[in-house]
Amino acid sequence: MKLIVYNVRDDEIPFVEKWGRDHQIEVTTTTTTLNTETAAEAAGFDGVSCLQTIPYSKELFAALQRLGIHYLALRNVGTDNIDIQAAKANNVQITNVPAYSPESIAEFAVMMALYLSRKVGYMQQQLQEQHEFHFSPAFMGRLISEQTVGVIGTGRIGRHAIQLFRGLGANVIAYDKYPQKVAGGAFKYVDHLEDIFKQSDIISLHMPATADNFHLFDHEVFEEMKPNAILINTARGTIVNTNDLIFALESGEIAAAGIDTLEDESIDLQDSRSTKKITDADLIKLSMMPNVILTPHSAFHTTESVKNMVNISLNNLKTMAEGGKPADLVD
Ligand code: NAD
Ligand code: COI
Repeated sequence: MKLIVYNVRDDEIPFVEKWGRDHQIEVTTTTTTLNTETAAEAAGFDGVSCLQTIPYSKELFAALQRLGIHYLALRNVGTDNIDIQAAKANNVQITNVPAYSPESIAEFAVMMALYLSRKVGYMQQQLQEQHEFHFSPAFMGRLISEQTVGVIGTGRIGRHAIQLFRGLGANVIAYDKYPQKVAGGAFKYVDHLEDIFKQSDIISLHMPATADNFHLFDHEVFEEMKPNAILINTARGTIVNTNDLIFALESGEIAAAGIDTLEDESIDLQDSRSTKKITDADLIKLSMMPNVILTPHSAFHTTESVKNMVNISLNNLKTMAEGGKPADLVD
């Protein structure tokens, strides 16, 4: 059996090599992104492992079918960028890694909430732009325990985020399209998203991107939110209208934002060896705001996550290539 790992980063390679040695399977790595032009690199392999946030298109699945490739194992959770019908039509089975380390993303969301609540961006700005190192009234922050946190999406990551926010003493309310029966005493489900918008001081997003939540956070919603509100998006960029977010931050409709996922994430984002400078006007603007923390889709990125992403993905790929039914089939 021969497997190929696309979009590899240098921090993944030791885990890939160890997995190959442990299983006595030849695994080739490439930094290339998988698309119709690059699919040919996978010719002769029994399966492909991949991690990317740009679309896996209908044309890509047709190309994989032509190459006789029927197994694609994602190293990540989200499947919103996949044309699943096209994959099925072209006989390509797909797996994901639903739970490589939900704690990693939840901790990152809480880190963002702390950074923004304690105005660290303003401290950094004073230091980096004015080279001044002294107190400022602008640095006065808020305790998490004084705030109501609204969590949208109470799945694996959302539930960890709730635990962490509760640990810091926050009042937590939550909304889920499919609420779980037992909420316990840790948080209270609200029936309507409007309740989250209107009551929360911090809103943390932990739901998948779907057609019905595209640009859920737009001008109208920002107007409904509290002026002191902080929005944390470690879920998917398409849930937030970026232009409306920038307006909301500049006009004071909301106070701050933590942005790990942005709509229109480009192919450059996932090239960890890239030396390209950012040119996107929105990215540049957001990166310079002291009330924003902007990160390159990195909430997942811990040693624990990387190890599990590689191992679980390659285990799924091996199972499929051997004709078995993997645990994490995407349907
Ligand atoms: P999960 O499937 O365990 O939980 C998702 C929850 O969202 C479920 O409870 C579901 O009922 C709910 N939901 C679905 N649609 C909804 C909607 N329209 N409104 C409200 N709730 C809705 O998934 P998870 O593991 O918690 O991951 C959540 C998302 O986090 C992923 O889909 C992915 O987009 C994102 N993610 C981001 C990173 C990162 O590095 N930034 C890493 C992993 C996952
Ligand atoms: C996911 O696992 O869905 C993520 O968002 C992480 C990213 C590396 C694609």
